[in-house]
Amino acid sequence: MCGIVGAVAQRNVVPVLLQGLLRLEYRGYDSAGLVVVNHNQLERVVSTGRVAELSEKTIHTSGHLGIAHTRWATHGVPSERNAHPHISSGQIAVAHNGIIENYEELRTRLSAQGYTFASDTDTEVIAHLIHSHYARGISLLGATQAALAELVGAYAIGVVAADNPQQLIGARKGSPLLLGVGEIEHFIASDASALLQVTKNMVYLEEGDVVEVGLHGYRIFNAQGEAAQRPVHVSELTNESVELGEYRHYMQKEIHEQPQALANTLESVCNSQSLIPGIFGAEAAATFADIDSILILACGTSNHAGQVARYWLEEIAGIPCNVEIASEYRYRVSVVNPKTLVVTISQSGETADTMAALNHAKSIGHLHTLSICNVPESALVRASKLRMLTRAGPEIGVASTKAFTTQLAALFLLTLILAKQRGRLSQEAEQKHLHDLRHLPAAAQAVLNLEPQIAELAKHFADKHHALFLGRGLHYPIALEGALKLKEISYIHAEAYPAGELKHGPLALVDQDMPVIAVAPNDALLEKLKSNLQEVRARGGELYVFADADTRIHSSDGVHRMQMPEHAGYLSPILHTIPLQLLAYYVALQKGTDVDKPRNLAKSVTVE
Ligand code: AGP
Repeated sequence: MCGIVGAVAQRNVVPVLLQGLLRLEYRGYDSAGLVVVNHNQLERVVSTGRVAELSEKTIHTSGHLGIAHTRWATHGVPSERNAHPHISSGQIAVAHNGIIENYEELRTRLSAQGYTFASDTDTEVIAHLIHSHYARGISLLGATQAALAELVGAYAIGVVAADNPQQLIGARKGSPLLLGVGEIEHFIASDASALLQVTKNMVYLEEGDVVEVGLHGYRIFNAQGEAAQRPVHVSELTNESVELGEYRHYMQKEIHEQPQALANTLESVCNSQSLIPGIFGAEAAATFADIDSILILACGTSNHAGQVARYWLEEIAGIPCNVEIASEYRYRVSVVNPKTLVVTISQSGETADTMAALNHAKSIGHLHTLSICNVPESALVRASKLRMLTRAGPEIGVASTKAFTTQLAALFLLTLILAKQRGRLSQEAEQKHLHDLRHLPAAAQAVLNLEPQIAELAKHFADKHHALFLGRGLHYPIALEGALKLKEISYIHAEAYPAGELKHGPLALVDQDMPVIAVAPNDALLEKLKSNLQEVRARGGELYVFADADTRIHSSDGVHRMQMPEHAGYLSPILHTIPLQLLAYYVALQKGTDVDKPRNLAKSVTVE
């Protein structure tokens, strides 16, 4: 959570820092702040508002060296005193992303040494620790390395010193940080989008790396303190891909990008005549031949993608599959089957719980790991043996949309490839699936055309406080996803149930004030679902049904039917997700919430 950006240049770096923070605001927006070094002094400006407010407060601030931060609060309420960067003794400033687990012990020790604390944050101990070493005449790099050696927990940090006007220190362990390489100027940031304004040349720091950054160059040291070389990558991100363009919100933009995101993710497959394991990595064929079950670990929306995949994997590939919430799995005592393929799914690739679940799985003896991720150089991708990158492009809205549908596309490919390797996919079936996958972007585009009707429908929810989502089979996880989207951005309390479960309890909630949203594809469970919907109508519940054309479900008194353009068979969950995303979006507009930055949340959850 939290975003960091830092710069050392021959020009005023404040506009660079602010522009970088704007790009990183998706990581947290409880407060924002920056420090610049000027005439041997640290100038700190912070705001509990958004970056735009910080910009207004910094119109008279300038400097050639600085660090900046946008915060998602963990220790201490959102306030100016808790905003980063934090300063020790007027000398050392630190911006931090992550959590220091032993901060209480360090705080007690540093207090005994005479340091006074100006905030409730865990971060402030880092500033004082670095200062305690720096004050003994050690270099800024050495002081930072000595301080880091005492920290337990996760961090990405940016450090500057008042009397060191051309040097910036960065370090990472458990939280991401990269270096931007310019001409006679260098930068650090939590992700590449923050630096596209100044450079496309990025160096991804590895776990435990510390970097000393100057105007003319940089030196990287690994976790053992040895000099290390890291490759310079030319980022493929474009400014356009992280700008809003014609759209009102990133979420709306990202919903509309789904046809292209799906096409990009499926590109290599759709251009070929057959499915090959190689798309998951060079060792995929051998690994897939050695497995007899799958364990999917993920959080939130990514977990819902896993839940859909379970239906596909068991039905099409005939492989037993479990799906677990990563934050539960990491602390659960489980039985290890070394022939299990552990699949982690994550948009960001830096979700702390998912990362910890993967590490836990490896530590208890799981050998085969695969990650499905949207960020190429992320920690999750690097920690997995096999990988498939979704090519959704940067997702900035906190509510995950295009990341989810592209995860589904990737998981469907995994299913088909495993089915093929197990002799469960005839050549004819393979060609039919490839045909359907090629058609998927166009089918998604057709669903997007429902937008004006869904915007109208959303008005029915303007005064609602609760909603129930129903689905069956493959589409039960889609109901879960629809409910998550609605609660996340409109703050309407929403629950999802498998429709057959209604009568076992939730039916008691149904009355005229409880809208019931049903996902109704024309699949084998349609008639069962229709009976469940009758149970709702019989109790006066208002139904909003997203139905395939041939379901013979029609609008009538208390039933609002939204007709899906076509039935997509196994790929139907991908298409049925889109109207639920649009519904959540337009209900949020009705409610007047902050769609892209819903309260209390952040895009990347890098803390436990
Ligand atoms: C989705 O709308 C959420 N913001 C959230 O559930 C998210 O999917 C979850 O935090 C997992 O994130 P990841 O995919 O980056 O791991």
